[in-house]
Formats: sequence, structure tokens, C-alpha cells
Amino acid sequence: MRLAAVILAAGKGTRMKSKLPKVLHQVGGKPMLGHVLDAVVKAGAEKTVVVAGYGAEQVESFVGNRAQVVYQEQQLGTAHALMQAAGILESFPGHILVVCGDTPLITPETLSQLVKCHADNQASATVLTTVMQDPTGYGRVIRDEQGRVDRIVEQKDGTPEELAVQEINTGFYCFAVPGLFDALKQISSDNAQGEYYLPDIIKIYNRQNKVVAASLCNDPREVMGVNNRQQLAAAEKELRARVLNRLMNDGVTVIDPAATYVDSTVTIEPDTVLYPGTILEGDVKIAGGCYVGPNTRIVSSIIGPGCRVQYSVVMDSEIGPGCTIGPFAYIRPECKLGSGVKIGDFVEVKKSEIGNNSKVPHLSYIGDSIIGKDVNVGAGTITCNYDGKKKHRTEINDGAFIGSNTNLVAPVKVGAGAVIAAGSTITKDVPRGALGVARGRQINKENWVKKGSK
Ligand code: UD1
Ligand code: CA
Repeated sequence: MRLAAVILAAGKGTRMKSKLPKVLHQVGGKPMLGHVLDAVVKAGAEKTVVVAGYGAEQVESFVGNRAQVVYQEQQLGTAHALMQAAGILESFPGHILVVCGDTPLITPETLSQLVKCHADNQASATVLTTVMQDPTGYGRVIRDEQGRVDRIVEQKDGTPEELAVQEINTGFYCFAVPGLFDALKQISSDNAQGEYYLPDIIKIYNRQNKVVAASLCNDPREVMGVNNRQQLAAAEKELRARVLNRLMNDGVTVIDPAATYVDSTVTIEPDTVLYPGTILEGDVKIAGGCYVGPNTRIVSSIIGPGCRVQYSVVMDSEIGPGCTIGPFAYIRPECKLGSGVKIGDFVEVKKSEIGNNSKVPHLSYIGDSIIGKDVNVGAGTITCNYDGKKKHRTEINDGAFIGSNTNLVAPVKVGAGAVIAAGSTITKDVPRGALGVARGRQINKENWVKKGSK
């Protein structure tokens, strides 16, 4: 069975009170629309159409080449929205999955279950339903005496008896293409909201004696629609729990799931431990046997096996095996650390490479630098990489020893095995094996205090 998908995403999301189109609000570090796109592709859609309206340009640039975007100029309702895909899908030889762009928690499994139910029943339309403890706001599924879906009634149009029904329309459907776009034209806007309701197609199909089926989703959390910021937070929490469960199933220890924030894009190998206050965002890959946190934020970075990162921030960087970061370190973008590197307390590193087993243990700033292997950078060492106009590079070769409180005025190079005396301000290259001293000599004035400081 060939499958296409339409994602309805033209609504402004008035209740979000946002300039950003609702479907681009992020859940688990990814726009809601991204979650839905992933799900329909995984469920087997070979072609996807996104119906955009409010903020269409932003939606289009997010979607890129993953789907075709059609424009719904006025948001006249969900049936009218689906109609906009007619040009592209009218002659599609198969079935169409229709989903809303504001339901980020849907899983490919549930969509596949919907499609299977549709195929098994050889239905013209199949609606995904679920039972909600509190169905307020959703369309209610009204069944006839035989238990078949008779119609769907929106909150604002329902009688008290209809509104008492707890089975709701999730807004996910599967339709056979023949007859679909003709039936959409027959839907009227004669209802409480003056909108063209897609669920009204059920009534029309029943009148035409077409087969209408319903697939029941057991987990109402999956189909939760996000219409306001409270629901956005609820979706975030749910997705976070799901991600942490996946990690724990894969052998990761999460000390306190309620205080650990991991995007769905993150992968972690077994026997890594996440301490409370760990925030992992974007494309993060952490190998096994690491200890991450407490209170650590890692963004789009690769962490090698056996690392320990605590009370620190790491951004867009690559950390080799067995490194120790923090407490209170700040690894800024484009850093690459070899194996066994130590970046200690109150150290900031930016756009620098640091070789195997080198150490920057305390109170330093290393920027635009290349540091070789087995280098020791003493406390308080600063690379003076910026002259007010341009950034310059510092190079420290293998085995060099940089005394405490050194200023390295870039561009400058310290040769292999060289030693820099503590407190030096190095402005010229130091050759391999040399001692570089650049500071005033100490003078002691004998009995200076006794003579009354004269
Ligand atoms: C809809 C269903 C309701 C169901 C609920 C599930 C209708 C009339 N009602 O209600 O039965 O229980 O979803 O979450 O369909 N959209 C457009 N263009 C429009 C109108 C809407 O693209 O002209 C998009 C929205 O951006 C959104 C989706 O369609 O992604 C659903 O619209 P929304 O207004 O949120 O519908 P609900 O009132 O939630
Ligand atoms: Ca909705």
C-alpha cells in the first residue's frame, strides 16, 4: 500500500501568544513539526505535504526538502487546509495519512497501527481515537448502536450528552485518495466556529455508505495537541521522560530523571552516569563510562569514553577519552581535546586544540591555541589572543611547561620542552628546550621597613 502524508500546520496558534508559528516551537530540542515529519516518514510516507499559513516562510525554511509546502492563505478550517494538498495528491495512487503539526508526541508505531487498521478494514477513512479522562476541547467520537463511528462533534457544537463521551478524535486520519477531495468540497462551515471541519467527512462518507473505521490509541499522551504554553511544557516533560527511558534501557544511569534534561537527538553509550542538573542539547554523543554532571550543560559535542565533566559548560567541541573537565570549566565552540586532558576549575578554552595528557588545571584562558601533548599550563595563564582588532594564534609544543600567571601575547610560539618562568609576559617565540623569562627582576631592599619606608 502506497502512503503519502499531509501535515496540517497553517494555524497561528493564537493561544501561544508568540511571533513564532506554533508548529516551530521546540519540544525536546526540536520543533514540533520536526517530530511529526520524522514520525510520518518512519511510518512509511513516501511523500509529505505540509500545509503552511501563518509564518509560512519560516515553516518552509525549516522543512527544506523534506516535504512539499503548500500555502493556505486563510485558515478556514482543517478540511479547507487538507484541500490545499489536492493539487499535489489528487492523483496519488494510494492512501493519505493526515496529521496535525502540533502533536509532537505521536510515535511511528501508532501511525503504523492506524494505517494497518485502515488497510485491514479496506476503509475509505480511518480515524485514530483515544479515550481521555478529561476530553474537554477535543472533538468527541459518536458511535452508532453497532459501535461504528457515526460522526465527530466538536466541543463548541456538542450537546451535553455528546460532550460526556470520553472517546475523542486525535486529529490523525488515513484516507483512500479516490473520492477524498470531492467529499472535502461537500463539507460546509455551518457550525459554531464557522469553519470547514475535516471530521465532518465522516458523516459524508457514512451517507455514501463508504467504510469508516476507527483505530484506538491506548496511550492518550501520544496524541496530545499543544495549543498553549502549559501544554508545551507538558509535552516537553513527557518527551523528556521518554528520552530518559530510552537511555536507561540502553544502560545509562540517570540519578534523578526529574532533574535531567536530554534532547531526543542525544546518544549515550552504556555505563555512563548522568547526575542531576545535566542538560544535553542538540547533537550530543557521549561514550560509555563517563560521569556527567552535576549541573553541566553540553551542547552539540562529542565526549569520549571515561570522561568526567562536572559543573561545566561544553559547546560544539570534541573531548577525547579519559578527560576531566571542571568543576566550573567553560569549553567554548571549536575545541578539540585529545585523550587524558585535564581542564580544571575556572578555565575557559575557546577554538583550541589540546593534545594528549596536557593539563590546564586552574584559572586560565586559552583561546585560538594549539597545545601539544604533555604540556602543563600553570594556574592563571592567559593567552592574549586579541589585540583589539584581530585574533592571533598561540602555539605551545609537546612537553612545554608554562609557569603560573604567564601571559602569552599572541601570535607567539613556545617550542617543545621549553619552560616559561612564572609571571612572564611572553611576547617573542621561545625556542625548543629554552627557558623563557620575561619579568622584572626582584629587588630586596634590606631593612627597608625599619628605616621607616624611606
Ligand atoms: C482538531 C479537530 C478535533 C480534534 C483535535 C485533536 C477539527 C475541526 N477538529 O481540533 O476534532 O479532537 O484537532 O487535536 O479538525 N489547521 C490548518 N488550517 C486551518 C485550521 C487548522 O492548517 O484552517 C491546522 C492547525 O495548524 C493545527 C491543526 O490543523 O496544526 C489542528 O487545528 P486546531 O485548530 O488546533 O484544531 P483543534 O481545535 O485542536
Ligand atoms: Ca489542536
